[in-house]
Amino acid sequence: MDTLTIRRPDDWHLHLRDGDMLRAVAPASAQFGRAIIMPNLVPPVVTGAQAAEYRDRITAAGFARPLMTLYLTEDTDPADVVAAHRDGIVTAVKLYPAGATTNSASGVRDFDRVRPVLAAMEDAGVPLCIHGETTDGDVFDREAAFLDRTLAPLRAAHPALKITLEHVTTSEAVQFVRGHDNIGATITVQHLMANRTTMLSHGMRPHFYCLPILKRDTHQAALRQAATSGEAKFFLGTDSAPHPTHAKEATCCAAGCFTAPHALACYAHVFEEEGALDRLEAFASLNGPAHYGLPPNDETVTLTKGPALDLPERIETNGQAVTLFDPGHALHWHVTA
Ligand code: DOR
Ligand code: ZN
Repeated sequence: MDTLTIRRPDDWHLHLRDGDMLRAVAPASAQFGRAIIMPNLVPPVVTGAQAAEYRDRITAAGFARPLMTLYLTEDTDPADVVAAHRDGIVTAVKLYPAGATTNSASGVRDFDRVRPVLAAMEDAGVPLCIHGETTDGDVFDREAAFLDRTLAPLRAAHPALKITLEHVTTSEAVQFVRGHDNIGATITVQHLMANRTTMLSHGMRPHFYCLPILKRDTHQAALRQAATSGEAKFFLGTDSAPHPTHAKEATCCAAGCFTAPHALACYAHVFEEEGALDRLEAFASLNGPAHYGLPPNDETVTLTKGPALDLPERIETNGQAVTLFDPGHALHWHVTA
């Protein structure tokens, strides 16, 4: 198969930032119809009014169909969340354990303090997106620890809450998602294409560093199996997270891979390697909308296999560079229509 026409994909997990960075990276997501926009700005997007203003800055920057999220804090007002969802301003709420990742300092420390808002969301049908890591313990074990310690009890307390476990990285997370109703999961490009050995074995490669951190190859294999299985619970979320190159290539490197410009080519590459191109549409274009209760896109995209993609090494934003994720081999799938 060297041509594939599928419904236009959506990106169910995207960081666009703000200001110059937003204007530089927003057009890079044009291959996607809609995108769930992460709220971890500085300061974070915590109210419906802030989400509406941020949405307008995003559309002005050239990404037409952002789906906004609110950043859950211990002070989040349940009524504001429910109203912003009812009014179509926000699609979901994002939970960051405080300190788990980039710009998560305002996140949740004491989960008891967000029970009222989770209960209100459960009642009103507002989905919860979760960065599923503990903030202590071995960095490679934090996702699995979060499932046992936090997600299992949270889910038992709110069985009807619709949950997206974002950027799953382990076979434990895949199993957890399979074993629970009302939970779906996004899977990134880098977690399908790389593992911790890719990142660490021939020198330390900062452009592979993201959170949750890449795990061992057996987990990568479990993710590739889940993504390409066609199961409705797994769908595309790039977690494309641009940082200036100087912040990535630093003594203490920032977490995040900038994959938006070539994400579809990367996913198609993985699906072809797994002999599953016929299931790319489910993962990229159908499962995500179904999870969020939205229709799939009407338009289609056509992917064609051809000569190696000629990608820039970086894009420029007002004097700063942002380096593209490089999987370490050529990509051959072009979006041709
Ligand atoms: O690698 C990551 N980068 N993981 C996250 O959870 C946040 C993101 C960012 O905002 O840079
Ligand atoms: Zn993210």
